Formats: sequence, C-alpha cells, structure tokens
Amino acid sequence: MQIGRLERVHLGEFPTPLQELKNLQKHLDGPRIFIKRDDLDGLGLGGNKLRKLEYALFEAIEQCATAIITTGAVQSNHTRLTTAAANKLGFKTYLVLKGEEPKIATGNLLLDKLLGAQEIHYVGGPSNSNKDEMATMLEERAEQLEKDLREKGESPYYIPNGCKAIHGALGYSTCVLEIITQLRALGLAPDYIVTASGTCGTQTGLILGSALYAQGETQVLGMSISGDKEELGKRITQSLAEVAEFLNLKQKIGTEKITVYDDYIGEAYGVATGEMKEAVQLIAGKEGIILDPVYTGKAMAGLIDLVRKGRFEKDDVVVFLHTGGVAGLFAEGQIGTFQE
Ligand SMILES: Cc1ncc(COP(=O)(O)O)c(C=O)c1O
Repeated sequence: MQIGRLERVHLGEFPTPLQELKNLQKHLDGPRIFIKRDDLDGLGLGGNKLRKLEYALFEAIEQCATAIITTGAVQSNHTRLTTAAANKLGFKTYLVLKGEEPKIATGNLLLDKLLGAQEIHYVGGPSNSNKDEMATMLEERAEQLEKDLREKGESPYYIPNGCKAIHGALGYSTCVLEIITQLRALGLAPDYIVTASGTCGTQTGLILGSALYAQGETQVLGMSISGDKEELGKRITQSLAEVAEFLNLKQKIGTEKITVYDDYIGEAYGVATGEMKEAVQLIAGKEGIILDPVYTGKAMAGLIDLVRKGRFEKDDVVVFLHTGGVAGLFAEGQIGTFQE
C-alpha cells in the first residue's frame, strides 16, 4: 500500500518551514544544523500531533463519530491539539487528564478550556505515581465515558494519548519526504534527524520515512523525555512491525535503525535540567526560536551534547525537529524555571 493513497483530513499547513541555524552552528563549531518547524504547522499553536491527527480524525469521520475522547497529562500538548483539530472538524471533545484539577488553569490546560473542550475529567493524583497503574486508570475512565456517551446517543471515537502508533508513523514518514525535498533544493540531503521521543510515534514515522524515501541513510536519533532506551526501543520495534504489516512493506527495517538516547531526561519527565535550560536559552539567544522545557528543550540539550562530543562530521547535515509544546513554558510548575 502506498502511503500517498491513504486518505486523511487536511488540518495543518504543510510543508512546514525548514530553517538553517547558522548562529548555533558557528557557536558549536559543528555540523550544518537545520530546524524543521512543525511547531508552526498552523492550528491550535501547532505541534507534532497534527500530522498524526490528520489520519486519526479521518478514521473518526469515516466511522461517523460525533465526539472525540482522548487522554493525556494535565499539561498535554496532545489534548490541546486534538481539541483544536476536533473543533475545526465540528466534533465535541471529551478529555480524561492524569492528575488533580489545578486551582488555576495554565499553559495547555488553559488552552484546552479556551478551545472549549466539552468535558474535562481528572483521574488520579500524586499517590498514583506508578506509570502502568495510571495508564490503566486513564483507559478505564475513558472506556466508561465512551459507554456513557453512547447511552446519550453520541458516537464517540477514542484517540489514545499521542495517537495510535500507526497514525504517528504515517504522519511522520511524510515529514521525511518534506525534509528531503526542502534540502534537495539546496543541494543537500539529511544525514540525521533528531527528535524528542515520548510515545515514539514520531520517531517510528521518521525511521519509516528514512527507509521509504532515503534508503535508510538518514539516521534518526530519538531523545527520550521519559523512559529508558530499552523500553522505547521495544515500543518502536513493535510499532514498526505493526506499520510494516499494515502497509504490506516488502523491505525489512532492522532494529539497528533504532537509536534512542536516555541521557537527557534528568530527574523525571517534565522536571527541568540545567542542560535543558542552557539549550532553550541558547536557541532563543542565538536564533530567536523558542523551544519548550519538556520535549524540545531536552532533545536540543541532547543534540548540543552530541555535537560537543564529536558525534557528527563537519559536513554532516543534521535536522532538528521542532515538535512544538511551547505552551508548556507557561504551565504552572514551569513558570519559575527561567527566572533565576
Ligand atoms: C511537544 C512534543 N514533542 C514531542 C513529543 C513526543 O512525540 P511522540 O509521542 O510521538 O514520541 C510530544 C508528545 O506528547 C510533544 O508534545
């Protein structure tokens, strides 16, 4: 099955810009570095979920859904973008968020509310710190909500946190094609693409895109923002197998194509690190581009560290994917981060 034949809805403005970070490159005395601006993809303050949602919400339309249910953290970029995209397509959105309702809505939660999410349910609190336990609680609450909505005559469509792996893979494989086309106009080709990795749909799609459009020669470097490299490696292997089966792929994508770094997470997901702060301030100061503290800040910290350690050749072309998330800078708990 050719990806171009798969139907999707139009949500974002693609291709997103590809910009060269010449000041950063000079500062680091490293390879050529470009930034792919998926934070500027044109809806609900932008971010990587739009490419995935184009496939997910097409499925919702096909199933004649009337409402979208999705889950995420209280400061979820995914729920913000799902709500924005659902608004554009005329769906109601029901959110199930991990954690307690804060007294004041900030960052992404403020935007979920501003976008008019129909209902926001909060599940668990600080005592439920076990990741698997929390995920089960969220799913159970979402299932209950699905039942309740059906009883009320709605036809809900459920989108898991970060979207189904297959939708991420489809969305991000075509991002590689965009990057290749944009660089070709400059007589260049991408040697590396660097991305933040959470649910890994983005990284899986980039690996697929490299196999389909670059003979696997573009190496994808995933920077984990939570979870060790073995855990993420397993997730990507499984998602690649699913997508290979779905597309009936003739070529095999080996596990040697999966590279995950887990050295830049720091204490935990969402907790600031010194390297993240340096990275966010460096890109803002040298390039006027704003990264976020949870995903792209940590991923950029990883890229800067690898450049300093000599991981790249001077003539390598490295593309950093800006996956969005800037609303996180204005979230309760992050606001103080850059104030000292
Ligand atoms: C801003 C941002 N960057 C990167 C990611 C990670 O993407 P993925 O879940 O596809 O690994 C997320 C996921 O929530 C995100 O919100």
